[in-house]
Amino acid sequence: IFGAGRKNSQGVNLNIRSQYQPLMDQMAGFMDKRHDVKPLLAVEVADDPANTHVVYSPYDRRQTVGSVQWTSAEQARQAVDAAWAAFPRWEATPVAERAAIIRRLADLMETHMAELMTLCSREGGKLLTDGVDEIKEAVDFCRYYAMRAEELFAEPTALPGPTGESNHLQLGGKGVFAAISPWNFPVAIFCGQVVAAAVAGNTVLAKPAEQTSIVAHRVIELLHEAGMPRDVVQLLPGDGPTVGSVLSSDPRITGVVFTGGTDTAQIINRALAAREGAPLPTLIAETGGMNAMIVDSTALPEQVVADVIQSAFQSAGQRCSALRVLYLQDDVADRVLEILDGAMAELRVGDPRDLGTDVGPVIDEDARQGLNAHIERLKGEKRLLAETPLDPAHTAEGTFVAPMAFQIDGIEALEREQFGPLLHVVRYKANELERVIESINGRGYGLTFGVHSRNESFANAIAEKIRVGNVYINRNIIGAVVGVQPFGGQGLSGTGPKAGGPHYLLRFATEKTVTVNT
Ligand code: NAD
Ligand code: ALA
Repeated sequence: IFGAGRKNSQGVNLNIRSQYQPLMDQMAGFMDKRHDVKPLLAVEVADDPANTHVVYSPYDRRQTVGSVQWTSAEQARQAVDAAWAAFPRWEATPVAERAAIIRRLADLMETHMAELMTLCSREGGKLLTDGVDEIKEAVDFCRYYAMRAEELFAEPTALPGPTGESNHLQLGGKGVFAAISPWNFPVAIFCGQVVAAAVAGNTVLAKPAEQTSIVAHRVIELLHEAGMPRDVVQLLPGDGPTVGSVLSSDPRITGVVFTGGTDTAQIINRALAAREGAPLPTLIAETGGMNAMIVDSTALPEQVVADVIQSAFQSAGQRCSALRVLYLQDDVADRVLEILDGAMAELRVGDPRDLGTDVGPVIDEDARQGLNAHIERLKGEKRLLAETPLDPAHTAEGTFVAPMAFQIDGIEALEREQFGPLLHVVRYKANELERVIESINGRGYGLTFGVHSRNESFANAIAEKIRVGNVYINRNIIGAVVGVQPFGGQGLSGTGPKAGGPHYLLRFATEKTVTVNT
């Protein structure tokens, strides 16, 4: 389906190995390297073995990537001191200089693509194809935000006014931003948050996810090599509640840009709101989804299945954009499910470094156990429709979960986002469509949504009614492209503004109006 380097059951050669071979050769040089990293703060950090954590590969828990020394609460406070002191100088740095540093980071990430992809795979369990997309997206974020910053911040905007008066609107930085990111896009989202905040004139405290701090460390090393002062962007790897609560309770933090679970966003929101006497903060939160797709009777079943497989199982379903609930109209449901069953049987789960693998591991044992508990419950209710077999030869040592499709009665049956390769299928009758739309909207999440139909006005009408951030018609629902499909949700899925969109940087900026009596 998206496999490579092997034949499918009809004997069609899926071998695209030659396209990836040069990159794979370069990656081989980084596969066995050990990485032991520490916080990257304005001042050098002393070794602290007692606070150092070993990182294992999710595809083989016997393999060690290296170790990460976590940031202590005291170091986090010192990092805020340095970021606070550096802000006026950084804000006064011309935007062209700030943007030039970010563009140099983009160039450096391209030069170091194989090394970064290897870390994404070893630390985050990413497939090669996902790794390519990941680094390209990070590079796109850098170049897009550098361009937008120069457009928005370089010159004040002249505004109309009465004769004898001039009016200008000038953008500036807000202060110190905490950038808190998830493990599932350990370079793209991590980097996108940091460069957006910094290019807009803010100093940044970057807190990567516990699971993927080594690759984040490499990105910040490259950013410093690109010319970013060490006190302007600092890296604070560590435990979310410990480092996160220092940052979100400090009155000098003017903003938090967060991507992760909805529950974590709510904890941060409460901590920011509880600060006595602090300026009103900015919270940009991009959170989880319970993403649905509606398929009507005019849809092409083969196309539907190809898009469902990608949307639900690519990246092992560990995308916030991934498809969780597939609504099939009765007239087309049997045919779609028959093809889906065959397609899922073809998927290969295993080592992400093998080009023939379609679905890699889930991030860690906690994630696997959470997904397995959900699977056991649905299997107990005899709701399993289709399953990809797991081959122990390729999966015994890692945290793998077999892709599965279950029948459920409606989106309300799902208590929480299941962040893995699990698809839920609901059958509906044509006269139940309005109720289906109401229940998707009523669930409160609003990230991605898909509709498959050859009736254009039907598809457009549904797209109008559904309350989400990103709607996709007759295609898969993942892989938003920077500057093309600005990405982000509403309701329980996030605050906006959209990452990779024209308005994103404005939320990191202050606006000052200057009026002169001429
Ligand atoms: P998570 O919420 O567990 O962790 C995200 C980050 O928050 C990590 O860096 C973590 O250390 C930190 N954190 C944890 N507790 C904290 C606290 N009390 N205070 C401050 N920071 C804290 O999420 P995750 O498991 O890393 O990522 C998966 C989630 O992210 C899914 O829900 C997924 O849908 C969501 N996600 C959303 C988007 C989007 O753009 N909407 C993109 C990717 C992932
Ligand atoms: N931006 C990522 C996607 O669209 C999350 O899949």
